Amino acid sequence: MKKINIALDGLSGCGKSSTAKAVAKELAYKFIDTGAMYRAVTLYFLQNNVDLDNPTAVRDTLDSIKIDFVYNAESGKNETILNEQNVEEEIRKMYVSQMVSPVAAIKAVRVAMVAQQQEMGKHRGVVMDGRDIGSVVFPDAELKLFMTASTEVRAERRKMELEAKGEKVNLEEIMENLESRDLQDSTRAESPLIKVENAVEIDTSDLQFEDQVQKVLDLARDHIAAE
Ligand code: DC
Repeated sequence: MKKINIALDGLSGCGKSSTAKAVAKELAYKFIDTGAMYRAVTLYFLQNNVDLDNPTAVRDTLDSIKIDFVYNAESGKNETILNEQNVEEEIRKMYVSQMVSPVAAIKAVRVAMVAQQQEMGKHRGVVMDGRDIGSVVFPDAELKLFMTASTEVRAERRKMELEAKGEKVNLEEIMENLESRDLQDSTRAESPLIKVENAVEIDTSDLQFEDQVQKVLDLARDHIAAE
């Protein structure tokens, strides 16, 4: 059967990655969390005190960054590897979330990440989540989705996730971070977050996780059958 690419864009923290991961598993497709790639670059920039306003330093640093994903059978998760080091936990921390939008707004960073993402999906059979997948990375994706949810619902979910990992967080701080990232991501000059014309919008505020996965799977199977 012909494989398709599924582009899943949307606001921060509305369950894009978990949904994409579950859908990919059901379809036996590859799941790629592009937010993790921007987070890994941000972590590396922070660790190496890279000046974001110095284009030469940014470009030179990008040359020394290699990002991979490995499947951890124990956790059932795809984990992010930055230059051979597993950074999956570190990149989810608040200090990285607070710096990721300015890093993701840099053109050279986006050019490097988009090239890798297009390579990963060139044989199709990929579920990729991010902000510019339907608009820039795979404008020819057979299925494009745009996910949203209210800020309150997103913040509550994120708080539970972080607390489950032992991180102490404050709901207000999470809401501020989500809203500020949405604003920065959708107003930046380079590949801003937009809902492309042919994307199906899914508001997950009142949806159970299983229902949102089912919704995407139904749409995906319709598209696969039509290929
Ligand atoms: O999906 P996430 O919240 O882990 O993404 C982290 C940040 O990375 C997000 O604030 C915007 C940026 N991002 C992006 O600019 N383009 C993508 N394709 C994915 C993420």
